Amino acid sequence: MGKNDKVSGNTGAKVWAVGGGKGGVGKSTISIFLAFWLARMGKQTILMDVDLGGANLHTLLGIKSPPRTINDFITKKYNSLEDICIDTEIENLRLISGASEILSLANLQFAQKTKIIQNISLLNADYVVLDLGAGTSFNVLDFFLVADKKIAVLTPQPTSIQNTYAFVRNAVYRKLSRLSSRDPSLHALIKTSIDTKNELKMQTVKELFCFIQELKGEDVAESLRKEIEEIKPEMITNMVRNPSDKNAGRIIQLVAEKYLMVHCADMGGVDYDRYVYTATSGMVALTRLDQSSDALACTYEIAMKLLS
Ligand SMILES: Nc1ncnc2c1ncn2[C@@H]1O[C@H](COP(=O)(O)OP(=O)(O)OP(=O)(O)O)[C@@H](O)[C@H]1O
Ligand SMILES: [Mg+2]
Repeated sequence: MGKNDKVSGNTGAKVWAVGGGKGGVGKSTISIFLAFWLARMGKQTILMDVDLGGANLHTLLGIKSPPRTINDFITKKYNSLEDICIDTEIENLRLISGASEILSLANLQFAQKTKIIQNISLLNADYVVLDLGAGTSFNVLDFFLVADKKIAVLTPQPTSIQNTYAFVRNAVYRKLSRLSSRDPSLHALIKTSIDTKNELKMQTVKELFCFIQELKGEDVAESLRKEIEEIKPEMITNMVRNPSDKNAGRIIQLVAEKYLMVHCADMGGVDYDRYVYTATSGMVALTRLDQSSDALACTYEIAMKLLS
């Protein structure tokens, strides 16, 4: 799961994953807006619903019943993700729909997940935007970790800030845990440190690294440190109603740096926009929003930042 395991190869599509700890913060909305802008800029873009168990991206795009879904790929009806892409009404933007009707998808087997991840790299596109489900299950974290851009959406509420911090923390431990899977003593140490009430009193990633260095030496610690440095989540604060709301991303940046040794980038805020809410409530495609929509305008700025 290191640098060389990124989902996209040198020639493959760039993958942007949109996650975050909490439900309902706007992951799907922001995935759509970012994909919309990429498509508008002329990039071949695929939006993929990886909210296994709670897929609703197609509804937000105004598609009532998608003719093909990821379930058709998992059940081998189609051999590639490319074959299950469906067109949207936006030029350059295609959709890989999720499969909410199959609840067992939430418990995707490791081999199935690996197959999906490998197949993403074969997609014929410039960008693939993954809309992840809520929570910090291994499935969600693994899709997040393989992406080129790891975007975490939060809202200004303290509970959302806490959840996002927990999400980033879980991503760090998931990566460390997978990287150490062939080394039982290291793996056990990492597993112990996940619970902050552990007997060795390792409360932060920094403290864990002191123990790793003691157990495995400086070289191993250094190479793991580099892997963690590569996570670099990009924070987007959604539903901003006043200027101070935008500090949420900055708060996570500070604590993640201090306790997790992770450098988060603060990508800025997306305004609360009642038209987004109205469109969703009325089942109107979010891509049909008036382009003067505040939220859409904010995501344009963010898409440009992510591209640069
Ligand atoms: N910037 C915004 N302004 C106003 N409403 C918003 C904004 N972003 C999202 N919403 C509304 O918040 C609700 C949740 O949004 P969305 O479905 O995108 O969240 P989610 O994080 O994908 O949720 P889930 O965890 O259930 O997948 C929707 O009703 C949506 O219209
Ligand atoms: Mg969603």
